[in-house]
Amino acid sequence: MEDITIAVVALAAVLLFFLYQKPKTKRYKLPPGPTPLPVIGNLFQLEKLNPQRFFAGWAKKYGPIFSYKIGKKTMMVISSAELAKELLKTQDVNFADRPQHYGHEFISYGRRDMALNHYTPYYREMRKMGMNHLFSPVRVATFKHVREEEARRLIYKIDKAAEKSEVVDISELMLTFTNSVVCRQAFGKKYNEEGEEMKRFITILYGTQSVLGKIFFCDFFPFCGFLDDLSGLTAYMKDCFVRQDTYLQEVINEAVDPKRAKPETESMIDLLMEIYKEQPFNYEFTVDNVKAIVMDIVVAGTDTAAAAVVWGMTYLMKYPHVLKKAQAEIREYMRDRGSTFITEDDVKNLTYFKALVKETLRIEPVIPLLIPRACIQDTKIAGYDIPAGTTVNVNAWAVSRDEKEWGPNPDEFRPERFLEKDVDFKGTDYEFIPFGSGRRMCPGMRLGAAMLEVPYANLLLNYNFRLPDGMKPDEINMDVMTGLAMHKSQHLKLVPEKFKMY
Ligand code: HEM
Repeated sequence: MEDITIAVVALAAVLLFFLYQKPKTKRYKLPPGPTPLPVIGNLFQLEKLNPQRFFAGWAKKYGPIFSYKIGKKTMMVISSAELAKELLKTQDVNFADRPQHYGHEFISYGRRDMALNHYTPYYREMRKMGMNHLFSPVRVATFKHVREEEARRLIYKIDKAAEKSEVVDISELMLTFTNSVVCRQAFGKKYNEEGEEMKRFITILYGTQSVLGKIFFCDFFPFCGFLDDLSGLTAYMKDCFVRQDTYLQEVINEAVDPKRAKPETESMIDLLMEIYKEQPFNYEFTVDNVKAIVMDIVVAGTDTAAAAVVWGMTYLMKYPHVLKKAQAEIREYMRDRGSTFITEDDVKNLTYFKALVKETLRIEPVIPLLIPRACIQDTKIAGYDIPAGTTVNVNAWAVSRDEKEWGPNPDEFRPERFLEKDVDFKGTDYEFIPFGSGRRMCPGMRLGAAMLEVPYANLLLNYNFRLPDGMKPDEINMDVMTGLAMHKSQHLKLVPEKFKMY
């Protein structure tokens, strides 16, 4: 009954919206794309499952730049390296904004963060501060011991399972690893993994992440905002926000408590609170800025590295010769070193493994559609008009399969590509942009890479893995779970066998 009421009200609202449309004054030659239905556009043609693959399918049909509509809004997707360069380099400033999104606005304290902020002078100050302090090479190095300690804990847990030949859930283990690292880096907190506080943190994190991924009617159908209320989405978002805010306020209270014991390493929240006290910017830096930026770090830092290692291990199960080659390199190197734990310094000397990390991020960039950009002023790309306000996604997944750049078999998992071709993810090689590029490129790239390399390399050093229950590699489900970072939707479960080096 409730559904029918919502549908009737929606229809009425949509008709009202339609009636109040002003006649268009300007004609644009938009990039090609599927024909939109009146009022709703292409909303119901979009597939939720594996959007990066779905959009790559549309790119095959309509070309490397295509547009579609949701309601009145023009959306655009770029799918080739050449056009990615045009957008992220040549026209970077004009596409450095983020689109309207009610959930993003609300959960980020009115865009007081970095990732979701509009491209304003205020944002540029936040970003500069982030690059100089939070994400600087010195700061990344400060937390090296945290990442290595947590990787040792991960190995210890798998050792226990290996003794009994038990199945381990690699997805779960990797998420616990990244959650623990992120809590220690961001808050200076070491949680008991099974404890209530960790569970509370994870629930809050999932809530925030889910709000970031929701589609709000009000963003696309200005007269239909009440549908977000009717469907319960607004209440859900507010509830997630209150829980997030209560938690962050508690963490801040602890950080500024004069009775608190001095932490071994200054956490990111400590650093942000110092900035808050000093007020070094032209704009006021508020406690809401601290909360919003910390939430960026937490959201961006947990899922991404975990998802990357899980995808890597998944492909290695499908490509055993790559696994063997990577293990041979790592094991030989570590035998000479006389150690069974790979540190961040060791990783620098593992050429094939470094290529494997790149190939992992090429074949499944974990934020495959990057974070959407918004066009600031009317412009042209590839001869098409791009009106101001257009939402643009760069399909990094499709770009890293651009045959012009990667040759005829881009779906093959082959780290050797990166030994044959000098390409890096630092944002200047447009055929490989897992961290994006340009003004909105991931500022946490160094930290992200550090967070995934050590656990990944230690898994390969310490165990030979097999799939459980006679499962065959081609039976592994490769669907992604949609969200900001796209995880493998089904957890990867493997049986570890301890590798004895001596
Ligand atoms: C493997 C790990 C990671 C990957 C693959 C990744 C990828 C990305 C991508 C694709 C973007 C969007 C770039 C664009 O719009 O062009 C991004 C933005 C961002 N990332 Fe990362 N990221 C990772 C780890 C991290 C970590 C560890 C942090 C923080 C601790 C972080 C913080 C951010 C922030 C704040 C932004 C928004 C930047 C802005 O809008 O100015 N990321 N990341």
